[in-house]
Amino acid sequence: MSSLTGRTALVTGAGRGIGRATALALAKAGVDLVLLARSQDQLSSVAGEVRSLGRTASTVVADLSRLEDLERTRRALGQAAGIDIVVNNAATITPMGATTSIETDDVLSAMVLNVVAVASLNGALLPHMLRQGWGRIVNVSSGLAGRPADFVGGNTYVTAKAGLEAHTINLAAEIEHTGVTANIYRPGIVDTGMQAWIRDQDPQRIGGALHERFVSLHEEGNLIAPEQSADALLRHLSSEGTGQVWTVASAPSAA
Ligand SMILES: NC(=O)c1ccc[n+]([C@@H]2O[C@H](COP(=O)([O-])OP(=O)(O)OC[C@H]3O[C@@H](n4cnc5c(N)ncnc54)[C@H](OP(=O)(O)O)[C@@H]3O)[C@@H](O)[C@H]2O)c1
Repeated sequence: MSSLTGRTALVTGAGRGIGRATALALAKAGVDLVLLARSQDQLSSVAGEVRSLGRTASTVVADLSRLEDLERTRRALGQAAGIDIVVNNAATITPMGATTSIETDDVLSAMVLNVVAVASLNGALLPHMLRQGWGRIVNVSSGLAGRPADFVGGNTYVTAKAGLEAHTINLAAEIEHTGVTANIYRPGIVDTGMQAWIRDQDPQRIGGALHERFVSLHEEGNLIAPEQSADALLRHLSSEGTGQVWTVASAPSAA
């Protein structure tokens, strides 16, 4: 039994990739799941996998880049008041390309999904965590937040992830000594649909050098499996640390 057993976690972007692997790793650790994304079919499939591991699973279909959906979700989950752990994982890497080609609406919806939704959901879920004196907030970022010049062509993404990290560190300071922790997780370079999407883009649109880098990472076998990243996250999650930047490499050894 760990401190996670019997808790309930919300995982956003839980239908595939890192979110799905994290949800299943949590279920294996004895955690019940609330799974959120836009695609009901993918959520239903993951919910079935969670239940086959002996835990409960419910699904929430919402587009967190849309303020109406975000507000509805925030109200529903805040009122449900039983979520002890949140893994804010859903994000978009779009829009990509030269800054001169980027549309304002696309920047706005990316910022809503990648930053605003995280801050908003955390605000709605915190009261329950604070009342019980225990909670875990994990905001999934990217190593690129620490080296934004390495992702020319992805200005919106690195800007959003830097903002997400500032939100997390500031929140951790605000809730210090409450029993609720807030940490950043940089999941590594992971073999998911997000990586495949970049490789599928027109090199001329997103930048030839950037495209080649992502194709090479894949061809040279440098991507890790979502399960490996989720396993590292779970090992961090059992700690009491707060205001930290967690990575795969810095994960504590398995007990
Ligand atoms: N893969 C990597 O190498 C890598 C590296 C660094 C950081 N990350 C970060 O890790 C996290 C997960 O990435 P991933 O590679 O697993 O991504 P992914 O394979 O693209 O999966 C993204 C998940 O988020 C959901 N999602 C996307 N847009 C959404 C929206 N508007 N509203 C609600 N849910 C939405 C998707 O489901 P629907 O489409 O059905 O909504 C899906 O379940 C992200 O925060 C990403 O920035 C990934």
